[in-house]
Amino acid sequence: MKHVAVQQCINPDCNAQFPVDETHLSCPKCQANGFESLLDIRYDWDRCMVPKSLAGFEYRWMTKGDTGGGALDFSGVWRFRELLPFFNSESDIVTIGEGRTNCQCADRLAKKIGLSHGQLFLQYEGLNPSGSFKDNGMTAAFTHAKMRGAAKVACASTGNTSASLAMFASMSGMLGIVFIGTGKIAYGKLSQALDYGAKTLQVTGDFDSCLKRIRQIATERQDLGIYLMNSVNPFRLEGQKTIMYRVLEALNWEIPDWIVVPGGNLGNCSAFGKAFLELKELGLIDRIPRLAIINAQGANTLHQLVNEDGLKWNGGRFDRQLIQKKYDEMDSQGHRASTIASAIEINRPVNLPKALRAIDIMNGVVREIDDQTILEHKALVGRYGFGCEPASAASVAGAHLLIEEGTIGKHEKVVCILTGHELKDPDATVKYHTGIDVKAVAPDAPRHEVKGKFANQPMLVEDDLEAIISVIKSLKLDE
Ligand code: F0G
Repeated sequence: MKHVAVQQCINPDCNAQFPVDETHLSCPKCQANGFESLLDIRYDWDRCMVPKSLAGFEYRWMTKGDTGGGALDFSGVWRFRELLPFFNSESDIVTIGEGRTNCQCADRLAKKIGLSHGQLFLQYEGLNPSGSFKDNGMTAAFTHAKMRGAAKVACASTGNTSASLAMFASMSGMLGIVFIGTGKIAYGKLSQALDYGAKTLQVTGDFDSCLKRIRQIATERQDLGIYLMNSVNPFRLEGQKTIMYRVLEALNWEIPDWIVVPGGNLGNCSAFGKAFLELKELGLIDRIPRLAIINAQGANTLHQLVNEDGLKWNGGRFDRQLIQKKYDEMDSQGHRASTIASAIEINRPVNLPKALRAIDIMNGVVREIDDQTILEHKALVGRYGFGCEPASAASVAGAHLLIEEGTIGKHEKVVCILTGHELKDPDATVKYHTGIDVKAVAPDAPRHEVKGKFANQPMLVEDDLEAIISVIKSLKLDE
C-alpha cells in the first residue's frame, strides 16, 4: 500500500514528490533546472490515525519502560508519533529517551524584562540527553537513516549537532563523522563528540565552509555512503516539531501569544511553522501563535534580508536573486559570521526559505541582538532560571527587545525556547563573571602526550574536497 508520507519539494511551481524510502537533500528536479529547493515531509492525514484532540496524547505520560510502546511513549518526540508518521513500522524508530524537557514559568525573569506575572515561560531544550534541542531532530533523522540502511552518518556543526549525532551514532552502532570549524566550537561540545567516539574532522574554515563540504560529499560522492544529519535533512525537522507540542502540553493545550527562538541555520523556526500549520489543518488548534526569530548581530543574514530588503515567502515564489545578491556581497567583502553565540554563528542559513514560510504562517518577526546584550540575558537566565548557553539567551534578549518596542504586549503569554544547556560554554560564563578568558585549549597551547586507551583525537584537515575525502575513506567503526 502507498505510504502515508512523501517527500515533497516546497517550490509551488514544482511540488515534485519522492518516496520516503529515498534520500535527498534538496529537490532533484529543481536541481536539474539549475536551482536548489528544499524538501518537506507531507502526510496524507486522511489515512493517519491522529487523535481527535491534543489531550489524546496525554495518557502516554503514564507508560514507561522499554517494552511494547513504552520506549516510544517515554520519548518526548515519539509520544506524538501520529503527528510524524513517516516510519514504516515502530521498530524502525531510533530513540534514546529524548525530548523529556521542561517548560518553566519564570516570574522573576518576567519582571526583569517587563512581562506580567504568569506570562513568561522558558522551554528548556538543554535538558535533552546530549544537552540541546538537537536530540529531537536526530531521533527522527536516525530513524530515517535506519530505514535507509545507512552505516555512516555525518554533519557539520558549531557544537550541539555534533554532540547529538555522536551520541545517537554510538547508541545505534553507526559510524559518526563530524566536521567542525577550526577554533569555532565550545569545548563542552567538542568533549562530547570525542567522548561518544565520533570521528572528528577539524576543517580549516568556519561552519558555513564545513556545511558546504559535507553537503558536497553527501550528494556528489554517494559512493562514500554518507547520510547527512544537518537540518537540511527534512526528517530532522519532523522531530523538532514536537518541541511545540510539548510547549502546548505544558500550557495545558492553551495557545501562547508568542514563541521566541534563536535563529542560526533556521531549522527550529521552520519546524515550528510547519507544526502549527499542520495542527491547524488537522483542526487540533484554532489559533496560531506569533513567531519571533532572533539573530545574533554578527550573524544576521535573515534580519538583513527580511527587515532591510523586504524579503517575503510570497506563496513560495520568494525572491531568490535577492538572497544570491546578499551572499555575493558577503563573499566579495570576505564577510564571515562572528558572534559570542557560537551556535548561531552562521551566515548562510540552509533553511532560509522554510523560515520565510514559518514567518508567513505565524505572522512572525525577526530581530537582531548584539553580543553584550546576549551575555546580559544569559546571566539573567542563569540567575532566575536553570541557565542556558549564549545562543539560547538570544531568545530572552529578543523577547525583552520586543516588549520594549511594544510589539509584544506586557500581558501576552510568551514562550522563549532555550535551545542549549548552560554547561555547553562555561568559558563564556566564567569570562562574563570574572573577566578571565579561560578558553581551555588555544590552538597553540602546549600539548601533552595522549595516553588514554580510548583517546579519540580530532583530525586536522585542510578545507579541500580531496583531502577531506581521503580522511573519510580511512575511517572505520570502532568495535
Ligand atoms: N541554539 C543552539 C543552542 C544551537 O546549537 C543552534 C544550532 C541554534 C540555536 C540554531 O538553531 O539552526 O535551528 O536555527 N546549532 C547548530 C549546530 C548549527 O551545529 O549545533 P537553528
